[in-house]
Amino acid sequence: MEHVEKIIDEKIQGKALVTENKKENTKKLFIESYGCQMNMNDSEIVAAILDKEGYNTTQILEEADLVLVNTCSIREKAETTVRKRLQKYNAVKQVNKKMKVGVLGCMAERLKEKFLEEEKIVDLVVGPDAYKDLPNLLDEVSEGRDAVNVILSKEETYGDISPVRLNSNGVSAFVSITRGCDNMCTFCVVPFTRGRERSRDPKSILEEVRQMVDKNFKEITLLGQNVDSYLWYGGGLKKDFKKASEMAQATAVDFAQLLDMCATEFPKTRFRFSTSNPQDMSLDVIHTMAKHKNICKYIHLPVQSGSNAMLKAMNRQHTREEYMELVDNIYKIIPEMALSQDMIVGFCGETEQDHQDTLDLMEYVKYDFGFMFAYSERPGTLAGKKMDDDVPADVKKRRLTEVINLQQKHALYRTQQHLGKVEEVLIEGTSKKDPNQWKGRNTQNTVIVFPKEHYKLGDFVNVKVEDCTSATLIGIAVGYSENN
Ligand code: SAH
Ligand code: F3S
Repeated sequence: MEHVEKIIDEKIQGKALVTENKKENTKKLFIESYGCQMNMNDSEIVAAILDKEGYNTTQILEEADLVLVNTCSIREKAETTVRKRLQKYNAVKQVNKKMKVGVLGCMAERLKEKFLEEEKIVDLVVGPDAYKDLPNLLDEVSEGRDAVNVILSKEETYGDISPVRLNSNGVSAFVSITRGCDNMCTFCVVPFTRGRERSRDPKSILEEVRQMVDKNFKEITLLGQNVDSYLWYGGGLKKDFKKASEMAQATAVDFAQLLDMCATEFPKTRFRFSTSNPQDMSLDVIHTMAKHKNICKYIHLPVQSGSNAMLKAMNRQHTREEYMELVDNIYKIIPEMALSQDMIVGFCGETEQDHQDTLDLMEYVKYDFGFMFAYSERPGTLAGKKMDDDVPADVKKRRLTEVINLQQKHALYRTQQHLGKVEEVLIEGTSKKDPNQWKGRNTQNTVIVFPKEHYKLGDFVNVKVEDCTSATLIGIAVGYSENN
């Protein structure tokens, strides 16, 4: 339970993000990021844009010239957390009067100019596709005007910007490959806040990976709202692909091909990806994963519900049976694959039977990890407009607890399967609980801790698993792995 709740909390917790600073830069940027990994990566893009404008990052709010908060709208609680942070900034601004405050990301896109009225402290509001306009917007602000740019783009992928890595461990990094989402799940605000889906030129992706590899990074996670629907055929929206010339279609690159290109070109680098949508996941992707040792054997495969009625109401484009068939095929091709879920309990009209179907599906898959949420109505979504949020809060809470408890049981079942095995681990940092232990992950994404001995950050080590909890493996290193 503790582990699962921690994960949920981390998803909405902000962090002051910092990097190594340039001497010639004179202004100070305090930037915080809430929500998904994509937001974290966007903050790195923003830091790169502002680095050119003379800003260094700082961890000290009180000394900032500019405070930016990259926001999340996915659930009401995420928005409430940001509002509370704005109050804190307000208190600091009473002392540091020259400090400017900007809101980035999904809340900026959702609330637009309204933000300026609702939160007097805010000087600028910038949506996820408008970060390149930040220098102009800051000029406006310095001349005493409020500045807003929330225009969504059909083209922008920030493929030409090298992100400045923030709070980096120097070992693992994120690289965005798609932006936006076209799926229109009825509960989800993302298609409204992040706009239409578009893919990034594979050349610029490979170039960014190369830069990271040259800097000694060992693991790259390819990011998108829906990575499996990645498709490059020259830019623009995916729907236009159908109209594109045959030549463009013949030279198109899909997600399986992109993964293959990355894994082949950088055989010593680990690749992960997130998030996969079941309806778009092709078995080509699984075969590509099977072909390359350096593509990690882990898929985050959100299902949201185990009930066909709920899946339909959510506009998920697959049935429970199709999902189970996909899972069967994945385990058939790669038996050691780890799978994780996102689950929503208490969606509009969810009956006790629907909930039982969810528990039953979980029992079938036995996910390694899970991210579980009570349904939170979002304004503007189809469910928000047309469906009744009719499951009482106490019922949602009880169902959430049941789902979390079952996930906990399955997580323990999965970690126990590793006992006695020797597994390759990439060292990512010091264990939070014990400064004499390293922490890293195996290919399945399970965290392992083990005594540091002579090993170093970024080493690939073979670790014998001797004990486990439901969240962590505990082991001892038996030598470097062949990848080191
Ligand atoms: N494809 C995206 C999904 C983003 S939202 C990705 O890259 O992860 C992450 C998860 O939040 C969803 O899978 C869903 O389980 C949950 N979620 C989205 N909207 C929600 C809502 N209105 N209430 C509760 N949970 C929600
Ligand atoms: Fe949201 Fe569904 Fe896309 S959950 S991000 S609309 S795949």
